[in-house]
Parts: sequence; structure tokens; C-alpha cells
Amino acid sequence: METVDDSALRTILLERINAKGAIPFADFMQSCLYEPGLGYYTSAGRKVGAAGDFYTSSNVHRVFGRLIGKEIATMWHAMGEPASFQIVEAGAGNGRLSADIMDAIAELEPALYATVTCRLIEAEPSLAATQQAMLAAHADRLAWSSPDELAAGTLAITGCILTNELVDALPVHLVEMTAAGLQEVMVTVADGEFCEQLAPLTNPEIASYLQRHNVTLAAGQKAEIRLAADQWLRGVAKSLARGFVVTIDYGYLADELYGRMRMNGTLLCYYNHQVAENPYIRVGRQDITAHVDFTALMQTGAEAGLEKVWYGEQYRFLMATGMMEEIMALETRPVPEEERLKDRLALKKLLLPDGGMGDTFKALVQGKGVDAAGLLCLRNWTAAL
Ligand SMILES: C[S@@+](CC[C@H](N)C(=O)[O-])C[C@H]1O[C@@H](n2cnc3c(N)ncnc32)[C@H](O)[C@@H]1O
Repeated sequence: METVDDSALRTILLERINAKGAIPFADFMQSCLYEPGLGYYTSAGRKVGAAGDFYTSSNVHRVFGRLIGKEIATMWHAMGEPASFQIVEAGAGNGRLSADIMDAIAELEPALYATVTCRLIEAEPSLAATQQAMLAAHADRLAWSSPDELAAGTLAITGCILTNELVDALPVHLVEMTAAGLQEVMVTVADGEFCEQLAPLTNPEIASYLQRHNVTLAAGQKAEIRLAADQWLRGVAKSLARGFVVTIDYGYLADELYGRMRMNGTLLCYYNHQVAENPYIRVGRQDITAHVDFTALMQTGAEAGLEKVWYGEQYRFLMATGMMEEIMALETRPVPEEERLKDRLALKKLLLPDGGMGDTFKALVQGKGVDAAGLLCLRNWTAAL
């Protein structure tokens, strides 16, 4: 499990701070997650799944990707079945989700499969080999681009850009509402250990983020501000010529995320399936994350030409896109009862609230230059039960 010498990154960051002074927490988090060769996501070792630190929905059960694949096929129809269609997964990790989507499309929509390109974008380039192996059955339909290409807006994509748990892995600024006004958490060093100090905001965009998204913090409240998500979505909007953006992640609308019930914010660390609150230990060996502000994604998207099509809990998205049919198909498979039980437990995890992934996770569907009326997520699925 301990695949990274954490003292290497710890030492680098301690030296950097000693030489240059305190750094914004966002820079500390960026290094912990993405310092080349030493960050959590940029070093060897399993992150997702039983042998890693946390589960993502795509690694819980293949039905998750299959249902997204079905919705993507609906998008293709809604767009008038363009002759060339791209499915772009950003933050593709091991490629599991794209593989399940492509398997579903190959089986259910051969006409779309014949025109489709699956483009994988990942901050850690060495994962391309893992993705290639995971998607071997679709080798002639694959392409890769870098995060920089997506951010630059040069890809001119007709199709669907999707992410699962990418946005929560983008760094956040930490702020606190003090008697002296809004202050930013800086990371400094005392007695050879990382510690926090409050300072005036290092970036005026932090205050304008709160203003633009109508967020007011209470006295003493701490919060995370993810400027990187706004920036990321602007790149996505530029890169999408026509089609849809699907963002799945844990998070809330702004009034809930920044409400009085969350006075300490939502920053958390994951290590070996344990939750921790201290980001200054296991430097580069534990995941650091915070919930996503979906209001900001909707507002920034609207400013950048992405119209909100649908937003809601993951269980609603999965039910609307055909979970009941999938459950029935799995239940009637001629397989040992043990396997059916495993399926049931996995699907429960995807759907159920309170400890499951059903309501903490949300899905946001946005569109550009499209008529979304036929999408499955807009279906009144409760009427069919
Ligand atoms: C929590 S993992 C999720 C992986 C996968 N989507 C899944 O559901 O299992 C987040 C992934 O996003 C990648 N990532 C972070 N920032 C990125 C960016 N700007 N562009 C592309 N990938 C990024 C990380 O390297 C990591 O592999």
C-alpha cells in the first residue's frame, strides 16, 4: 500500500515554503495530488477499488457506465445522428467507465458505434497504458488528448464530454470569515511541521467567485472555493462545438454547500478506505477532496454557453436512464445465487442514500446547440413504476 516515499514530497514542500514563504492551501493541495511523480494521482499505486483508497461508481458496477452509454446514445439521436461523434471522458483514471460505456454502445447502438471516437483525457499520462488495456476491445475507436488541449478549447468536439469524480479532485482555496473580513488559509512551517495561518486573499477572484455565485459566509465559517472548476468548465465549453456535458460528482447546490450547517466546510482525506480530516499527514499518499459546488458549474456554464438540461441526485439519473430494466435483466441471468447477491449489493450502493452513493452524488447535464427534449434523464420514471 505504501508505494510513495512521502518524505520526498513532504521535504520538497517544507523546503519550498521555507525558501519562498507561506503558500495558499490550493497550491499545497495541487502539489499533494499532482506533483509530478510524487503526488497522490501522479505516482504509482492503486487509488480506486478494493485495493485502493475509495470506490467510484464506475468501479462499483458496470451498470453505471452502461446507463450512461444508453443516455449518450439518446444524445446522439437527439442531435440528429451526426456522422462523427465523440465521447470524451476527462479524468478517465483506469478507463473502467469508458470501457463500460463503449461496451454498451457496441451492443445496443451499432450505428453509433461505427462512427464514435472515445477520447480519454487524464492528468496522469502513464495511465494511458492501463486505459489501452482496459479498452482493448475498442482499440480502433480510441484517441487521447491532454488536459491542456481541452482547456485551450482547440478540440472542436461534437458529442458528449463527461466526468465522474474529476471536479472534486481539482484543488480548492480555503477561506474563513473572520472579524477582519474574509481571509485565506495559507500553509506555512513551524518547528518543521506544516501549519495554517490566515492572511488577506491572495487572489481577487476568490471574492468575486463568492459575489458572482451569491454566497455569503457566516462569522467564523470556513469554506472551500474551487476557482479551478470554473476555469476547467470554461475550457470544456470552448472545446464543445455541439453536444452535451455530463458531470457526476459528490456535491451540493451553493445554498446547501455554504449553508450554516457546514461551518467547517467539506474538505476530507481518504486513505485505505478510511476518512481523515488532516491534509498535512501522508503527504502525497492520501486523497484530498472537497464537495463540488454545482450552482457554480451551472452559472459558469451558462455564461460560457452551456445550458442546464438536468440536475439531480445520482439515483434519479440512474432510475431515469433505465436502472429498473437493468435490475430485472441481472436478476433473471442464469448465474449462481452468490453472483446475483453481489450484483444486488453493488446496485444498492449506487442507488441508496445514507452511506450509499445515491444522493450524495449528483449528475449535471448541460447542452450546447442541441435540443435535449428526448433525453432519458428528463423522463418521468416514477410513472412507469
Ligand atoms: C477521483 S479520480 C476518478 C477516476 C475515474 N473517473 C473514476 O470514476 O474512477 C480523478 C481523476 O482525475 C484526474 N484528473 C485530475 N485533474 C484532471 C484534469 N484537469 N484533466 C484530466 N484528468 C484530471 C486524476 O489524475 C484522477 O485520475
